[in-house]
Amino acid sequence: MSTEKLQAIVRGLRREASHVLSVELCPVNFEDHFPSFEPGSHIDLILEEGLVRSYSLCNDSAENDRYVLGVLKEKNSRGGSAFIHERLRVGQELTISVPRNNFPLVVGEHESVFVAGGIGVTPILSMLRSLSRQKKPATLYYCARSKPEAAFLDDISQLASSTLKVNYHFDDEQGCAPSLKKLMSGHSKDSHFYCCGPLPMLDAFEAACSELGLLNLHIERFSAPVTRGELAASEFVVELRKSGLMVNVRKDQSILDAVIDAGCMPDHSCREGLCGACETRIIEGEADHRDSILTSKEQAENKSMMICVSRSKSQMLVLDL
Ligand code: FES
Repeated sequence: MSTEKLQAIVRGLRREASHVLSVELCPVNFEDHFPSFEPGSHIDLILEEGLVRSYSLCNDSAENDRYVLGVLKEKNSRGGSAFIHERLRVGQELTISVPRNNFPLVVGEHESVFVAGGIGVTPILSMLRSLSRQKKPATLYYCARSKPEAAFLDDISQLASSTLKVNYHFDDEQGCAPSLKKLMSGHSKDSHFYCCGPLPMLDAFEAACSELGLLNLHIERFSAPVTRGELAASEFVVELRKSGLMVNVRKDQSILDAVIDAGCMPDHSCREGLCGACETRIIEGEADHRDSILTSKEQAENKSMMICVSRSKSQMLVLDL
C-alpha cells in the first residue's frame, strides 16, 4: 500500500480503436525514471479535484521512462473517461499514483491462457509483452463486439509468435458471444488462466473454470459485482488510531465517507473495492470484507481492508489511520 504520488506529462495520445485512446505519460523531467511496475499493474490519474480514476498499464514493464494506458470512452461516463477523451491534451501535467498490482502474473514453465474482453485487454497486453520477452508459452483469446472496437490489434499481431498464440473472437462476425468453456477446454489444468473484461464475461469465465475443474484462475475487475450493494449493513464505530478520532459509521455510509466527514483524507480512487487505493491496516476488530481485490485467504487473515466498501463484523474497528 503506497500513497506516493508522481508528476507526469502527457507525451502522447493515440486512437487505438473506435472508442479507445492510449495515453502515454512520461516523467516531468525527461531524465528521470518512473518507478518500475509489474505486468497487470494499474495507476490512478488525479484528473481534477475529486476525479480520480484507475487505469491498467499496457506497455512493457521493462520500460522505465513511460507509462501507457488504454482508456475506453464509457457510454455512461462518471467523468473520468469523458475528461480523458475530451479535455486531456499532449503536454498537460498530471498527478498520478505509483503503480499497484492486484492482478499479478505467475511466471513459470506452465502455459498462461488469457481471455480479454474489450478494454480488458490492457493489463493482459503488458503480461503478453513480458511473457513474449521471456519466450514463455501463452495463448490469448481476445474478444470484442466488433473488430473496430478492439484496441491494440497492431501491437498484439506483432507479439504473436510460436510461443504466443493469438485468437480473436468478434461477436458481429461470429453472430454470438464466445463459449469460454469451449475455448479453455483444450488447455492443461496446470495452465494459469487470466480474465479481464466486463462483468458477464468474468462470471462466464468463473463458471467455465469451475465446470472444467481449473483451479489456477486470476481475475481483474473493472466494476463491482452487482450483489454488493444488496448486502445488509449495520452501524458501527471506527477508531482512527493515528488521528485519535472515534468515528460513527452509519448504515448508509462507507467507512471512507465517514472518515472523510471526520476530517481525514485517506488515499482512495475507485470507491468500488476494485483498485486497492484505500487499503488500510486493521489494528483491532473484524472486517466484513466486500472488495474484489483480496483473496479469501487474505480476507480471513484480517490484516487489512478496503474501507470504501468493506464494513465491520465487530461493533468496533481500530484502523491504522
Ligand atoms: S478506493 Fe479503490 S478499493 Fe477503495
